[in-house]
Amino acid sequence: MLAESTASAIAAIHAFAPGAVILFAIADMSDYEWKTTCRVSRDLVKEQSTNEPEGRGKSMAIKKRPSVYITRKLPDVVETRMRELFDAELNVDDTPRSRDELVAAVRRVDVLVPTVTDRIDAALIEEAGPDLKLIASFSNGIDHVDVEAAARRGITVTNTPGVLTEDTADMAMALILAVPRRLAEGARILTDQRGDWAGWSPTWMLGHRIWGKRLGIIGMGRIGTAVARRAKAFGLAIHYHNRHRVSAATEEALEATYWDSLDQMLARVDIVSINCPSTPATYHLMSARRLALMQPTSYIVNTARGGVIDETALIKCIREGRIAGAGLDVFENEPVVSPKLLKLANENKVVLLPHMSSATIESRVDMGEKVIINIRTHYDGHRPPDRVLPGRG
Ligand code: DGY
Repeated sequence: MLAESTASAIAAIHAFAPGAVILFAIADMSDYEWKTTCRVSRDLVKEQSTNEPEGRGKSMAIKKRPSVYITRKLPDVVETRMRELFDAELNVDDTPRSRDELVAAVRRVDVLVPTVTDRIDAALIEEAGPDLKLIASFSNGIDHVDVEAAARRGITVTNTPGVLTEDTADMAMALILAVPRRLAEGARILTDQRGDWAGWSPTWMLGHRIWGKRLGIIGMGRIGTAVARRAKAFGLAIHYHNRHRVSAATEEALEATYWDSLDQMLARVDIVSINCPSTPATYHLMSARRLALMQPTSYIVNTARGGVIDETALIKCIREGRIAGAGLDVFENEPVVSPKLLKLANENKVVLLPHMSSATIESRVDMGEKVIINIRTHYDGHRPPDRVLPGRG
């Protein structure tokens, strides 16, 4: 609210003194609020000048505001801005939309803003009315949208890359630490024993050192590289497998070893981190055969998508002691989590998180900003910055 009202004030000053440089400091305003204020005010100023009556400067034709259907609750600052700019239909109580509701929406709106919890498949896209021209997904991953089907209908698809990289990498690093160092198990001991902890002992709660171990990253894109940077600082040796080798400068900075053969890398690393997108090519990339290549002392961490690992095979490997453990933020049948995985969590063999790697207020606001920019540029007749091309999802 502070950002909103301050932004309006800036916009008002600007309207009377266009071009003036406004310099002021606001005590108690955090960096985040400040940035949000600047962004919101910038846009308000822009909007006011385009709304000026003809003869007072601009003479832009008044365009119809696009109707935008947003499937889940977004941060307040994002929803407020969307309501200012668009005919926005929000989901204030955050109840996941039913298939029927989605069908009704795509038949009548100009823009659909789905999230990773919606299935925007070919059948749904077939239902789209003539006005639907943009699917501006509030997500980095785009596996929930059939981008090819959208392209066939002339519908542009966008996502929100880049703004959740660091948060996701933080959580991957947390999981890399959590399993070998028995973090969740240790925390549970205190809360479960409610004050009955007997105290420190030299041979109690021993985990495994991660410093000096080898980390094998599958998918060295933005997030994989951010994981590598963190892991290097924790003393891990970086190994990676990727469709393409990264630049020599990046390899040098990370002291990273490239493996053309995923199979060979798996047999030689101590921890595997999954950071590749979910595509038909990466579905069950970590198959039963590949999981069997991992060492019995090794761990696997997944902050990408559940479908990249054959979950049934993983559970079997961990139960049989052929892999030491796993840290999972994503699951094959989300939001359903296999009871077998829950059992392994109770046995402290795995650490499970509810798909929260990118869950920071900062990333969600930045994602919202990207969605807004994608919609605005599209409706201003430009190519939106985060367009997802068919075959690149
Ligand atoms: C995404 O946007 O793809 C993330 O998985 C959501 O956290």
